[in-house]
Amino acid sequence: MNSSSLNKLNFYIEMLKSRYGNGEYFKEIEITFKSGTKDFPAKVKKEEETLYITYGGAKNIFNWKDISSLAQEYDSMRMIYRERGTNAIILADNKNVTLKYEDSAVSTESATATVGTREYLIAPPKANDLLKEIGIMGQNGKIKNDMIRKYNQIDHFVELCADYLSRLNGKIEVLDCACGKSYLSFALNYYLRDVLKKDCHVTGVDYAQTVIDASKRSAQNLGYSNMTFIRADLNDFVLEKNPDIVISLHACDTATDLAIAAGINSGAKAIFAVPCCHKELLSQYSYEPFSPLLKHGIFKARQADLLTDSIRCLLLEAKGYSVVAQEYISPVETPKNLLIRAFKDGKNQETAKKDYFKLKEMLGINPKLETLIDLE
Ligand SMILES: C[S@@+](CC[C@H](N)C(=O)[O-])C[C@H]1O[C@@H](n2cnc3c(N)ncnc32)[C@H](O)[C@@H]1O
Repeated sequence: MNSSSLNKLNFYIEMLKSRYGNGEYFKEIEITFKSGTKDFPAKVKKEEETLYITYGGAKNIFNWKDISSLAQEYDSMRMIYRERGTNAIILADNKNVTLKYEDSAVSTESATATVGTREYLIAPPKANDLLKEIGIMGQNGKIKNDMIRKYNQIDHFVELCADYLSRLNGKIEVLDCACGKSYLSFALNYYLRDVLKKDCHVTGVDYAQTVIDASKRSAQNLGYSNMTFIRADLNDFVLEKNPDIVISLHACDTATDLAIAAGINSGAKAIFAVPCCHKELLSQYSYEPFSPLLKHGIFKARQADLLTDSIRCLLLEAKGYSVVAQEYISPVETPKNLLIRAFKDGKNQETAKKDYFKLKEMLGINPKLETLIDLE
């Protein structure tokens, strides 16, 4: 290749080198050098923190200058730089050198896909590697029957956050409280990075060692180096970085309060929580005028669920969040189908605070969430 093309090639390689940064989203580089009709392939892969190039049967530590050094021996080259969500393609010969970026799914797949009757955001075939790794899709490429509910839950959850997420700028720090096997963390990370192309980092916290180990393994298998999993009890977990977004899906009982409090106390911009079982207020609340209605256990329990979640919303409002509470999925999928979405708008809601204290006194309750936040 001539010197003018090599200069231009070097310029593009420098651009890709700075795009690579610390390699958080890097997948691989595939190059085909051409001489006459013969192809000479090369591949660059990351192992631990080091890049290696395999070329001509040998594997060596990669230096970005290797590309133009090799290119000068050939007539032309085609290079694909792959990172999560995006491919950069360089075509170079003696006449011209071009660089273009494309969505890694653009040529073969659309951003969403229909499975059954629903259009999914975490969509096959683009998301196949992810869906297989987290056990939602079998190795045969089919969604597993016993995982369809979990798939629906995480996809609907992401869908209801999608509009908000697409408007965020800069690096997005996400905290998943009581992450379990981290289905939601993986789905959100995939959506933020591979679909929206956002710079992001996701931390999952759970007190069960087995799920933390499994989540770490999955992140490693997927090459998702922008994820951290921590075994800790949310009761005494100390945040290292303040999250922009706190999420939690079916955090048992008062673990949802711990998640909401983690968001409030760290000043998170948004908190998205799907509560799970509600045990706390059932044994606490009483309201004499309602006693004829609450003599049936089932009504008392359902009323306790409603009270718990509506009080959570009230406290979020008292701490300056605008709240939207809605069913995020059909109750046939799960009866625990309430999504609380809270967006910090800084308004200090004196009315919500007053309403809360009035209700607290009237019902004789002492909700956990109040003890975790500063209401003064
Ligand atoms: C029903 S699972 C939900 C897991 C996951 N979010 C999901 O939707 O698949 C509830 C999780 O909460 C975790 N958990 C409950 N209380 C916790 C606490 N105080 N601190 C950390 N994790 C907790 C449990 O270990 C469990 O993994």
